Amino acid sequence: MEKNFILKGNVCYSKDKENVITKENAYIICVNGISKGVFEVIPEEYADLALIDYGDCLIVPGLIDLHIHAPQFAYRGLGMDMELLDWLNEHAFPEEAKYADEDYAKKAYGMFVEDMKKGATTRACIFASRHVGGTGILMELLDQAGLAAYVGKVNMDRNAPDYLREKDAQESLSDTREWIEDTQNRYVKVKPMLTPRFIPSCTDDLMKGLGELQKEYQLPVQSHLSENPSEIKWVQELCPWSDNYGDAYEHFGLFGGDTCPTIMAHCVYSDEAEIRRMKEQGVFIAHCPQSNENIASGIAPVRTYLDLDMNIGLGSDIAGGSSSSIFRAMVDAIQVSKLRWRLQDSDLKGLNMEEAFYMATKGGGAFFGNVGSFEEGYELDAVILDDKTLPHPQELILRDRLERMIYLSDDRHIVGKYVAGEDILS
Ligand code: GUN
Ligand code: FE
Repeated sequence: MEKNFILKGNVCYSKDKENVITKENAYIICVNGISKGVFEVIPEEYADLALIDYGDCLIVPGLIDLHIHAPQFAYRGLGMDMELLDWLNEHAFPEEAKYADEDYAKKAYGMFVEDMKKGATTRACIFASRHVGGTGILMELLDQAGLAAYVGKVNMDRNAPDYLREKDAQESLSDTREWIEDTQNRYVKVKPMLTPRFIPSCTDDLMKGLGELQKEYQLPVQSHLSENPSEIKWVQELCPWSDNYGDAYEHFGLFGGDTCPTIMAHCVYSDEAEIRRMKEQGVFIAHCPQSNENIASGIAPVRTYLDLDMNIGLGSDIAGGSSSSIFRAMVDAIQVSKLRWRLQDSDLKGLNMEEAFYMATKGGGAFFGNVGSFEEGYELDAVILDDKTLPHPQELILRDRLERMIYLSDDRHIVGKYVAGEDILS
């Protein structure tokens, strides 16, 4: 497929976490799926490329969802009256057990992928279920849709009902190896990622084996960290030898560092030592504000993470979160940060639009390499937004039109979508 073209429109992208660059009637040059930069006039050397003119539309980088559970998609918007551990037992585990049935998996994952395709997310880090077959189906569907993703077959060999728990570490590890062998080179934009569910779900034997698989296959890792007070207390009981929750992953070599890119979802209650280690190890934080509201986990200290220049992006955490929209996650991140400032810690200033947009694009995108911006050398993921159905009598500068799209847009405003230079909607 041809991946050489020019996009024309009102271009918005993050330079850094404080600044969004806005350029009206600008040109993004794409060569072999990679941005050559944003220009006010087409440079001579690219004059022959096909021009795709999006008129008065906005062009923004594709949004990044650093944390979402695909088999919980069918359950979004339901069962929001419990905290994490009860919610898992009552709602998440029974739903995920259904993915042993591959017909159910095909149907439900088909709906999940359709939703992601028509939304503004171009890349995601996705938890599947513990089932190898269903996880393979999900990866196949994502690939067919042209989306980019890391996908994890979930590991869980303790503290879950018999109908879902893996029999033992050995079974979990041999399933994982089989799945890695089958999928690691099968797709271009869809890749496997190691996914121990969280410490309470994984025996020490399983964690040790996953640490070995990580070294052998050099796969990235995703899991949950310091989400809920009862969960954290439980981890202390299960791993009395650990300094903190993060240390329970690090003990097995599953907590960042140069050869083990890692995403930890939530980090609502990380203490100073855990934060220091995450920073040193370059662990990516997936901030999931809507989930943290729905299952009453709390408000993560995102201002602290940004001030420390940590790696951070946004996650929808379906179905703890009920909306798969990363625009919605930006708004939630801004709103809960203001509540934290008002109610909990007046030293931690609330977030602004620029910071939320950064986390949703360049911040989360960094996990995938040069992703999440239109600067030269970035993979060209773009979403085209038409805001003419949100009329306004006053003149608005482009920055303000972007802010309104973040607060007010939905899938109906998306008129084009590119992933690594590939137009996936037409
Ligand atoms: N911790 C372990 N599993 C889960 C899950 O499915 N959702 C959330 N929010 N937290 C978890
Ligand atoms: Fe989660």
